[in-house]
Amino acid sequence: MKIQSILCLCGLLVMGCGPSVQKEVTLIPQPQVCELHSGAYSFSEGEAFVTNLPESERGDLAAILEASPFRLVASAKENAPFRFELVPALPNIQSPEGYTLTVGSEGVHAQATTATGLFYAFQSLLQMAEKEEAGFVLPCVSVSDYPRFGYRGMHMDVSRHFRSKEFVMKQLDAMARYKLNRLHWHLTDGAGWRLEIKRYPELTEQTAYRPYPNWKAWWKGDRHYCRKDDPGADGGYYTQDDVREVLEYARKLHITVIPEIEMPGHSEEVLAVFPQLSCSGKPYQNGELCIGNEETFTFLENVLTEVIALFPSEYIHVGGDEAAKSSWEKCPKCQARIRKEGLKDEKELQSYLIHRMEKFLNDHGRKLIGWDEILEGGLAPSATVMSWRGEQGGITAAKAGHGVIMTPGEFCYLDAYQDAPATQPEAIGGYLTLEKVYSYNPVPAQLTDDEKPFIQGVQANVWAEYIPTEEHLEYMTYPRLLALAEVAWTQPERKDWPRFREAALKEVSWLQAQGYHPFDLSKEVGERPESLHPVEHLGLNCPVKYAQPWSSAYPASGDSTLTDGVRGGWTYGDRRWQGFLCKDVDVTIDLGKVTDVRLVEADFLQLRGPEVWLPKEVVISLSEDGREFTEMKRIATDVPVTEERLTFRNYRWEGQAKARYVHFQGLLNREVMGWLFTDEIIIK
Ligand code: ACM
Repeated sequence: MKIQSILCLCGLLVMGCGPSVQKEVTLIPQPQVCELHSGAYSFSEGEAFVTNLPESERGDLAAILEASPFRLVASAKENAPFRFELVPALPNIQSPEGYTLTVGSEGVHAQATTATGLFYAFQSLLQMAEKEEAGFVLPCVSVSDYPRFGYRGMHMDVSRHFRSKEFVMKQLDAMARYKLNRLHWHLTDGAGWRLEIKRYPELTEQTAYRPYPNWKAWWKGDRHYCRKDDPGADGGYYTQDDVREVLEYARKLHITVIPEIEMPGHSEEVLAVFPQLSCSGKPYQNGELCIGNEETFTFLENVLTEVIALFPSEYIHVGGDEAAKSSWEKCPKCQARIRKEGLKDEKELQSYLIHRMEKFLNDHGRKLIGWDEILEGGLAPSATVMSWRGEQGGITAAKAGHGVIMTPGEFCYLDAYQDAPATQPEAIGGYLTLEKVYSYNPVPAQLTDDEKPFIQGVQANVWAEYIPTEEHLEYMTYPRLLALAEVAWTQPERKDWPRFREAALKEVSWLQAQGYHPFDLSKEVGERPESLHPVEHLGLNCPVKYAQPWSSAYPASGDSTLTDGVRGGWTYGDRRWQGFLCKDVDVTIDLGKVTDVRLVEADFLQLRGPEVWLPKEVVISLSEDGREFTEMKRIATDVPVTEERLTFRNYRWEGQAKARYVHFQGLLNREVMGWLFTDEIIIK
């Protein structure tokens, strides 16, 4: 194809547009440059396309174009109305995933330096097109577009609940539409091993099924596994052929699948099959692999050898999160390893394993990626860190010159409630709205300009403990994944929440029409009403004396929290609730002078999973002099600790009294210990 003739035609296209049909183009993710011109290009199904992609790549693009709603048909004609042109360079675009797109009244011209760029140009066209009775209409536009980050990911936990390969491929389709390019496939965890390993068929034979379809019932039950043919067996796994099918599907959508093989923690299923790899040597006792045992390394390397042969991904994820160190502390083999290798402690023991795995992967031409715990005890030389416990791990890794994928729980964990919890199916907790995901900027301000490029991307994580069905997984994923896609692709200055929300509403309808099950954004209830406006009361800004300190993990705004007028939202983790660990809330507020008091109240919340409890009792006492207190009310909690749902309770005294000092006690239920959280002590 002659570049010159295309450029001429391109000019004609832009200038030759007829009357406009659309006022603005809404795309997700929003392109970096998108100029809307007057006019439109109307066409019917079955128009011709031409491309100069080499033979090896032409077939894949052709298959996508032909199977798309446009049903484009391959042509050799230079003036075909759809032109997908590979070019050596594009002005102002360095990313190999970038593209330009021109729609004029005569047709479409896409340019890119790679097949991926042309694929993304087509994804933009698909989103822009309006369906009409006689065919489709595209607005006349000029687009110049490229991603902010090279890594734009979605994670899927298939251990807690298995998902069929067809379902995984359906999600790949949606990812491609929103220009996401990494699927992080969490294939192994305590709740089931999901990948056929030819050398160890026992893994899937013995742990890919459970007599409990629901993770929660399994977790609260005996946590045993069963075989496929046992009564009530539920679960599944991917054969290596299944994986190859998914990988081929992903490849055509320009998505890389990164497998995760968890180690050394979250390995209960491995240790049920091979108890000799645990410190105790017994099944169903440990969750961590024994690092003192050389056989552990043989096992992991044999598994990784098959994983490497199967997955072409440059990166292999080795987990590394949440390994308890207690079994290693008591294990003679682990302690002998610590002594032999001159390691300082169990953190360095974990690093020893990760370093060895990194060397193994590097020797086989691959790179290691792991959760941010791999920083503890010394980071492996070329490891990439996935920062999930906030951003600090990512910041530390970037400052040390390591690649980072940002996926902090506060912004990226799609297993949290997306709307008012009482209106939602049970979730793990938290509260993460579409708007909050959208607000995320993965490049922390603490990084210098030289350090910023180490932030290679961002990922949404879909942990599945509380997501039993495939339909439910889509409900939790969409539309929040769309916000993540725009965070990952669009430069911050191009982001615009009202525009994005409008586009997301439209996309929710599109997803529904395609058979997905997104959360219905149009019905969003929103944040806890009490938290929306500051509360005025007599105690506002009055000093608070704490008989027991708040926890530094949940300080909210420190000593001023309980009288600052700010009330908490739907999650205790929103920095507005103050946390007390294994302690009573016991505070005295000084109103400054003796005052008429008619009401004292405070809210607490209960969430069983993370052991956040309502107080067993609340005691409200008043005093004029700060020495003699009169108990005004003692309120027992009427919510049992067995309550599964997130529950808010108000504790209140109302009456008439004169007081300068308000003594408020929320007494811990000592049978369960755990956390107490409160947000404001309101005095009227
Ligand atoms: C994690 O959420 N445990 C990585």
